[in-house]
Amino acid sequence: MEITKICCIGAGYVGGPTMAVIAQKCPHIKVTVVDLNEQRIKDWNDPNTDNIPIYEPGLSEIVAEARGRNLFFSTEVDKAIDEAQVIFISVNTPTKTYGKGKGMAADLKYIELCARQIAKVAKQNKIVVEKSTLPVRTAEAIKSILDNTGNGVQFQILSNPEFLAEGTAVKDLLNPDRILIGGDTTSEGETAINALVDVYANWVDKDKILTTNVWSSELSKLTANAFLAQRISSINAMSELCEKTGADVNEVAKAIGMDSRIGPKFLKASVGFGGSCFQKDILNLVYIAKSYGLNEVADYWEQVIIMNDHQKRRFSNKIVQTLYNTVAGKKIAFLGWAFKKDTNDTRESAAIYVADDLINEQAQISVYDPKVSRAKMLSDLDYLETRTSGENNSSLATFDSAYDACKGAHAIAILTEWDEFTTYDWQKIYDSMHKPAFLFDGRNILDAKELESIGFIYKGIGS
Ligand code: NAD
Ligand code: UGA
Repeated sequence: MEITKICCIGAGYVGGPTMAVIAQKCPHIKVTVVDLNEQRIKDWNDPNTDNIPIYEPGLSEIVAEARGRNLFFSTEVDKAIDEAQVIFISVNTPTKTYGKGKGMAADLKYIELCARQIAKVAKQNKIVVEKSTLPVRTAEAIKSILDNTGNGVQFQILSNPEFLAEGTAVKDLLNPDRILIGGDTTSEGETAINALVDVYANWVDKDKILTTNVWSSELSKLTANAFLAQRISSINAMSELCEKTGADVNEVAKAIGMDSRIGPKFLKASVGFGGSCFQKDILNLVYIAKSYGLNEVADYWEQVIIMNDHQKRRFSNKIVQTLYNTVAGKKIAFLGWAFKKDTNDTRESAAIYVADDLINEQAQISVYDPKVSRAKMLSDLDYLETRTSGENNSSLATFDSAYDACKGAHAIAILTEWDEFTTYDWQKIYDSMHKPAFLFDGRNILDAKELESIGFIYKGIGS
């Protein structure tokens, strides 16, 4: 079975970049990305590809090459489903904010809506691919909806989780560590798996394409995120001990990372991990474990989140304590608001929680981030519902340059590891600040010795 028409439901951080790369690498396949959000689709179709809604290095060039050739963005969901042989579901699966499992379980309402829409529209057999991150055994529910509400056509459900990281999405998609495809072990299931393998084989070595049963694939995605986040919480736990003992967490990370069994990656101590997925996926894992009565398993993974929350709070507490136990009326400059560099995504960014804590202490926050708008920062704070929008608005100033944001500040907090921060004229920034001038490096990206020689009181993470 040769695939020539693909539809992807969800034009977000996963659907957009993933489909752009499939379209670029498979010019013989027509790829249509659909979304209910009209503005998002309008932005993906902006004639100037620098204005597409998601910032990722290299993405705008790929969209410029493929869009209008074999890559299309549209709000006509039914039409795209009807035409396609393969339908990727790439919609959001946030943590539930209501009802059973509130605050823990994944909210599958968007997934169910997609399944119902596919069932209603499909007049021919289709392959439905779970691209969103889902609780293990979701494919069962999708299959039941498709088979019971459909038009009598056959559906094969595949699980094909996405492992890209934001900020490096294009690189990760072009050069993945592996592609994982889970499907039924029946002959129809194997035909569907092979059809999807052939799509990826246009640019990925076949030995990197791993096929499994559906449940292993679904659970592997949650497991991968849990392991990655666990490494960060592990090194962050050590960072607190380092601060008490005179050890330096960067040195500890280097020393343990040279053990080939541990490896050097993902050992960077920080103000805490953010992003839309680590917390949501671990909470979901904890919920699943609890729902099977596996309380020890649930408690084990929950510690990763508890440690991360502690790390964020510890950072804001440290700022308050160091500034003589009061930040009321003091100006604290934030460099960075995004949850990591090279993305405009702010979901669950540590900056939001640190700002919230400091505003509670009546600090004035002045922020510079190269890719995040003031409107986004304010909506992130409003979402917490700690205070009124008006109060957030008057507690937060935003600037187009770090030099302006830092002028007159009592302290600077580095919240995102944007490369440009390492190239600044720190003497000039120091001269423009209130004295003593403090610098809290939540990402350990700056040179402590150099800053101290200028006159800064420098506090990194874990040293
Ligand atoms: P997102 O919120 O950026 O995008 C989801 C899009 O789906 C939105 O634009 C929304 O309007 C659209 N949508 C929702 N319901 C719809 C419907 N019924 N019909 C049409 N469109 C609909 O989310 P994302 O970051 O792209 O994440 C999507 C999934 O991928 C999640 O399950 C996430 O866990 C997973 N994932 C995300 C990343 C990442 O880096 N962001 C990486 C790997 C996996
Ligand atoms: C993460 C995973 O890395 C991806 O494989 C996965 O596909 C994705 O989640 C997902 O499922 O959404 P992402 O959250 O985009 O990707 O970015 P990461 O590079 O993993 O960073 C997550 C957070 O951890 C960031 O806030 C980052 O600053 C922080 N981090 C990362 C550290 O504090 N220390 C590190 O050593 C690494």
